[in-house]
This record gives sequence, C-alpha cells and structure tokens, in this order.
Amino acid sequence: MSLSTIILAAGKGKRMHSEIPKVLHKLAGKPLLEHVVLTAASLDKNRQPVVVYGHQGERVKSALDYLNVTWVEQTEQLGTAHAVQQAISHLPKEGRVLILYGDVPLIETLTLKKFINETPLDALGIITAELPDPTGFGRIIRDSKNTIISIVEEKDANTKQRAITEINTGIYLVSASHLQKWLPQITNHNAQQEFYLTDLIALAVNEKIPVHSAQPDEYEEILGINDRLQLACLERFYQERFAKKLMLQGVTLLDPHRFDARGDISIAQDVVIDVNVILEGNVKIGKHCVIGPNTLLRNVILGEHVDIQTNSVLDGAEIGDHCTIGPFARIRPGTILSSKSHVGNFVEIKNSTVGIATKINHLSYIGDSEIGQYVNIGAGTITCNYDGVNKHKTTIGDHAFIGSNTELVAPVTVGEQATIGAGSTITRNAPAHQLTLCRGQQRSIANWQRPTKKEKEI
Ligand code: UD1
Ligand code: CA
Repeated sequence: MSLSTIILAAGKGKRMHSEIPKVLHKLAGKPLLEHVVLTAASLDKNRQPVVVYGHQGERVKSALDYLNVTWVEQTEQLGTAHAVQQAISHLPKEGRVLILYGDVPLIETLTLKKFINETPLDALGIITAELPDPTGFGRIIRDSKNTIISIVEEKDANTKQRAITEINTGIYLVSASHLQKWLPQITNHNAQQEFYLTDLIALAVNEKIPVHSAQPDEYEEILGINDRLQLACLERFYQERFAKKLMLQGVTLLDPHRFDARGDISIAQDVVIDVNVILEGNVKIGKHCVIGPNTLLRNVILGEHVDIQTNSVLDGAEIGDHCTIGPFARIRPGTILSSKSHVGNFVEIKNSTVGIATKINHLSYIGDSEIGQYVNIGAGTITCNYDGVNKHKTTIGDHAFIGSNTELVAPVTVGEQATIGAGSTITRNAPAHQLTLCRGQQRSIANWQRPTKKEKEI
C-alpha cells in the first residue's frame, strides 16, 4: 500500500516573537521543517512529502528550496483540517496518508515505521502520548472499553476533560479515500472557529471505523515548538539523545552535557572528545582521534589518530591520519593536510594543501599555497597572497626549510630542499637546493654611545 506524507507548516508561530518564520528556526543546526522532511523522506524515498506552507511562505520556500518536496500554499490559516484539504489534490487517490507537523521536529523514523506497520489498513491511526503537563494539547477521550471516541481541544474542554493527561500529538495515518470523504464534513463550529483535523476521530467512530493508537518511546519526540523556551528544551533533548548514542557506539565524551552536534556527524570508535566541543555541518571523525576542549569543527573530515588541541577552529578542511593541530590553530576552507603534518599555535591556513609530515608550528599565515612534504615552516612565516586586488599562489617544494619571520610575496615558488634565511622578504622564485636570503647586512658600531637623559629628567 502506497504511503504519502503531508507536513503542516502554515501556522504563524506568533509565540516565537520573531521576524523569521517558525519552521526556519534551527534545532541542532537544521531548520525545524528540514528535520521533519528528512524523516518523512526516510519512510519512502520515492515519494516527495507535500508541505503546506502559508505564513511568510515565500521565505520558507526559498530558504528551503534544496529540499525535495511538493509545496502547497494555504493562503489563510483556517485550521488543521483546512490545511490538509489544500494538499489533498496533490496526493494519489489511493493508499494511505501520514500527517506530520513542521514544528514537531524530533519524531523518529522508527516510531513512525512501527506506527505505520501496526495500524490496520482499514483503521484510522493516531499517535497519542501521556504528558506530565498536557496544557495546550487536544485531549484524547476514551469510552468505558478504553476505545478512543474523540479529541477535545483544550479551549473546548470542560474541567474533567482538561484533567486527562493523554494528548493528541497531531500525527495521523488515514486512508486517502477516508480523508477525501471526511474532510468536507468537518465544520468550524468550535471555540476557535477553525476547521479541526481532530474531528476525523469522531467521524471514523461514527462510521464504525476502528481507531488505532500508538505511543512514542519518549514523549519529547512528539513535542511541538511554539516558543524559544520549548526550542531550547528540545535542543537539549536532541543533544542528550545524540550524545548517548555516540557513547554507546564507543565514543568517549568527557562530559556529554558540554558537547553539541549540529548537522550530519559521524564519529568512529575510540575517539575522545573533551568539553565544549561543537561539531557543525558535515563532520566525519576517524578512529582514535582526540578532540581538545573549546574546539569548533565545521564541515571537516578527520582521518585516524588526529590530535586536535585546545581552542582550535577548523572549517572546511580535510585532515590526514596522525596530524596534530593546535592549540589555538585556525584552519579555514579549502585546507588539506596530509598525514603526520603538524600545525601549531596561532597558525592560520586557508585554501592550501600541505604535504606529509610538514611542520608549521608557530604564528604563521598560509594562504593559497601548495606545500610539499617534510617542509619546515619557521615561526612567523607569512604568505603574502593578496595584492589588494587578486589572490596569488605560493608553491613550496619538498624538504624546503623556511626560516622564521619570512614573507613569501606571491606568486612565488620555493624549490625542493631550498633554504630561506630567517627574516627574508622573498619576491622572486627561490631555486632548489640553495640558500636564499634577503635581509640587510648586520653591522656593529664599536664606539657608539647611548643617549643619556638630562639630570632633572632622572
Ligand atoms: C493541534 C491539534 C491538537 C494537538 C496539537 C499537537 C487541532 C485542531 N489540534 O493543536 O489536538 O494536541 O496540535 O501539537 O488539530 N497549521 C497549518 N494551517 C492551519 C493551522 C495549523 O498549517 O490553518 C499547522 C501549524 O503550522 C502546525 C500544525 O498545523 O504545524 C498544528 O497547528 P497548531 O495551530 O499549532 O495546532 P494546535 O493548536 O497546537
Ligand atoms: Ca502547536
């Protein structure tokens, strides 16, 4: 039986107090809506989820145009049933329809798979949850046989009904044909004068269609985000859940509460991560790496046995096995370090490749460069890559030795095994195997007198 998914995302999100549409706010580095779209896509890769958008819809659409979805506009937000009605013409007439919310980001693929498999084909499925505090949610009404008979919204509920702690998550599984039949029967005769999708339940019960309910393992999965406090709470829940998963897979987190993963992160076993480490975007960390405290890795691939020391920032880089980086290093996009290379404190590298076992240990700027293997870059070396208009390349051959405090004015090439004397400003190519240096001659003045201060100044 085919499955289509509708994601409702047209609500205003007033309580965020934000100029940014709610579903674009980020959780774990990704917009809320993207979490839900990816989960929906994981259920059936061949069918695009239908996203109902409305409030500031063009902004949502253009910010997320990389997502593989069918966008459907709901121009006026007249309620959840009205929202689903807008999507219906974009769905196949047969099969089943799963309804999700764009602001309920952490629903798990596994929970949904179980829900879909366990819901009989002829039944209406609903995910409910027991909440410690059910305030604000629709309450599940069951009869004496414990069968679900309806949902009452909080605003329409009496005191007895408000005491019920089983709530409607808003996630339903319904056959396309039932949906087509029932949606037109839903009215807006209620406290909010909205077309409530929750009325599906009573309509099913009325036709003696069984209502099947399922519950998530952890109720946080189904929590929606209405304000920034809830956003922060779910962010913490996400981080704790992810940290737990990593630790159970063989990653040591010295403090799982001081670790943040925001993106698509994969970490091999026996990696040790110290406190206050942030991983963003696409990050891949190989076996036995050690990540020091206060470190940011964004879109980075680390080989095995890489040692990233405290307070380093790596962005858009590929680091080979057994490299050592930091403390206080900054590695910028386009950097590729081959195995066993060393980058030390206060070194910045941008758009450069560095060969095997090359050392850049102190206070250097390397930009737009190609550096060979076994090169030693002395302290304070600067590649002058920018002439104010264009960027130019510096090339340094294998086994070259660059003395401290050298400026390499690009475009320039230093040959293999060349040595550059400390303090040189190199503006022309330095030949292989030779010593090149460019500095004033040292001289000493034998009878020179230091100036002295006048008496009253002492
Ligand atoms: C809804 C349910 C409630 C449930 C709760 C779970 C109804 C009537 N009530 O209430 O039983 O406990 O969700 O979180 O369905 N949306 C649209 N267009 C609209 C209205 C809403 O796209 O016209 C979208 C919103 O963007 C949101 C979702 O539907 O993603 C839910 O809407 P919201 O207004 O938050 O419903 P609740 O009052 O929370
Ligand atoms: Ca809501």
